[in-house]
Amino acid sequence: MAIIADEQKRIFTLQTQNTTYQMKVDPYGYLLHLYYGRKTKGDLSYLLTFADRGFSANPYDAGTDRTYSLDALPQEFPYLGTGDYRTKSLIVRDSRGVYGCDLRYSAYEIRDEKYALDNLPYVHKSENGAPGDEGMQSLLITLKDDRLGLEAELCYGVLPQLDIITRSVVLKNAGKERIVIEKILSASLDFPEGKYDVLTFYGRHAMERNRQRQAVSHGIYSVGSTRGISSHQYNPFLILAAPETCETAGSCWSMQFVYSGCFEALAEKDQYNQTRVAIGLSDEQFSYPLEPGDQFTAPEVIMSYSSSGFGKLSRNLHRCIRDHVCRGRYAHEVRPVLLNSWEASYFDFSGESLCKLAEAAKDLGMDMLVMDDGWFGSRSDDSRSLGDWNVNEKKLGGSLKELVDKVNALGLKFGIWFEPEMISEDSRLYREHSSWALVVPGRKPVRGRYQLVLDFSRPEVVDYIFSGMCEVLDHANIEYVKWDCNRDIADVYSATAKDQGKVLYDYVLGVYRLLEMLRQRYPKLLMEGCAGGGGRFDAGMLFYTPQIWCSDNSDAIDRLRIQYGTSFGYPVSTMGAHVSVSPNEQNGRVTPLETRAVTAMAGTFGYELDPSRLSAEEKEAIRKQIRRYRRLAPIIQYGDYYRLSDPFCDEVCAWENISSDGTMVVVTAVMQAVHGNMTENYVHLQGLDEEADYKVTDPGDTGLAAESIYNGAALMEGGIPLPVRMGEYHSYQLLFEKC
Ligand code: GLA
Repeated sequence: MAIIADEQKRIFTLQTQNTTYQMKVDPYGYLLHLYYGRKTKGDLSYLLTFADRGFSANPYDAGTDRTYSLDALPQEFPYLGTGDYRTKSLIVRDSRGVYGCDLRYSAYEIRDEKYALDNLPYVHKSENGAPGDEGMQSLLITLKDDRLGLEAELCYGVLPQLDIITRSVVLKNAGKERIVIEKILSASLDFPEGKYDVLTFYGRHAMERNRQRQAVSHGIYSVGSTRGISSHQYNPFLILAAPETCETAGSCWSMQFVYSGCFEALAEKDQYNQTRVAIGLSDEQFSYPLEPGDQFTAPEVIMSYSSSGFGKLSRNLHRCIRDHVCRGRYAHEVRPVLLNSWEASYFDFSGESLCKLAEAAKDLGMDMLVMDDGWFGSRSDDSRSLGDWNVNEKKLGGSLKELVDKVNALGLKFGIWFEPEMISEDSRLYREHSSWALVVPGRKPVRGRYQLVLDFSRPEVVDYIFSGMCEVLDHANIEYVKWDCNRDIADVYSATAKDQGKVLYDYVLGVYRLLEMLRQRYPKLLMEGCAGGGGRFDAGMLFYTPQIWCSDNSDAIDRLRIQYGTSFGYPVSTMGAHVSVSPNEQNGRVTPLETRAVTAMAGTFGYELDPSRLSAEEKEAIRKQIRRYRRLAPIIQYGDYYRLSDPFCDEVCAWENISSDGTMVVVTAVMQAVHGNMTENYVHLQGLDEEADYKVTDPGDTGLAAESIYNGAALMEGGIPLPVRMGEYHSYQLLFEKC
């Protein structure tokens, strides 16, 4: 059993293959956190310590016991009102405006399935019988504040095989008066002792998810987004780690928010050197009223723990996201190799030029043509027409169906771009429904890329956009949609909302509802998320779109870092990655075509260039790349991923993919710099069977002899020397087969 409830001691234990999580209801009904970490057993309440401490107050129920203070004890769901001055997970206000509550244990329930959430993404049973399904359970613990009539149902999901625990909270107003939620964090973890580092992933447009590691020190270190989307700037994900933890050894814990809007993730070290980490909704512009009978669901958090370093932690998360967050046919299938029109021609295309692109794509061996931005309304640049999702037949020289049929006749699939949440002031939609844009009355709106944001907190707006999209998708054989979102939200005012503090959260629910309606209506459609590249790269979006365009930066060398950072929390199969031209359009860097290809192969793989500008040799090289990708894709997309170096520190960036049965190994390495009299670089493999031998089936450019055989332990301990090559940014890709 993954969940054990000791009713007598009122202890709840969650067990996974390698981890244990324990909590306890204390004599006063407070739910205390006892432990999360390496697998153990028994009653861990001996870890709690009690002392009479100045300026750490005592709840009334503790009577004269001055050693009991919630300012010092580890808690499961800290809330305002108990005398805990650390970061709270919950702050509410009652109808008189009084802050705080008093939630005590009331009941529990264990279910032999993973709980689901209404209108929000969540971890679920896989659709393909993947590991993780076995033994899935949920624990629901109800806490109650009788005076307010507030109930908090703490939800825990356990995927024992994957070492994954999920959390969420459902708040119910079972009272007679309004309660306002001023702040809610979905999960919080307390560590009564120890020194830790915190890893977060920061960035900017076109340079997302750089890894940052720093010591947790006194005070609060917090990252987040108040931009309406999860953001380029900080990913809704953090890792807490022992200072000595590295890729292959050491303790680390992760918290990943399954949500695509504003969030906060933090690590706090308190006066007693205790650490609290937490993640949840941002409280900026958030104030959510619950009328009697209403309930509110706080988005889910995925947690994992590894005692053997970041690599194992990431692989736990990869499996969880790939099989238990992503859904639909393509979640478990190698995605089509596509040619995207954006960097090939930007807004400047016609039906004829797209057909030429399609012919070239076919000739090179690709599967799909994607028509990016510019096909609708009078969109000839980025200043107009968002919201007018009617096909510009003049530009295409005919109907969309005619174009798609031509592309299909070549044996290619067809994909299309939408930016459903946006509206241009220069659009028919804005002229007819200007109140559908998020604009504060009496103020001029803040523009982003000239555009405004539609009020997706309003169901009628979502329904309208849905019918506009269906109008397009119903009339041609479209097999892929790229869902873009090219600005943050700045003006938070919904013309119909009674409470503006609901708008940012309800907006995200509106986005999810539209995505879900599309999924239901077009179950075979592949959707790729995008927000100016990776501005909304989160587990919430991945519930609806099994891949997300990782970054608008398609430069292979920058991508090494972006994809490396992304890989801490997200699997290869979710990262949209394309080969583009050199010099690169975003940073002017010149890189070899092969390096661009192997880097894009660490993602969903495609091209974003105009093949008519390629030489015959380049075209032949691309044909070979695509053939190679088809062979390697099942290993790369659905095997296990290992980071073999750190591109933020090492000159070589190397990674490895091992097939799920452990027999095939792909190693890829890219040199990030060259120097005179270059030093040797060795790549040490990971995850091999120490006893087994591995045969080189394709040495790539490493100089190893084809068919030569090496012992697994030797490849891991001794490594492989990469021969020094002249010229920058050389890459190596080699294959082994287990003998
Ligand atoms: C965003 C996307 C790009 C492209 C453009 C089109 O920037 O990230 O890939 O689709 O929009 O306007």
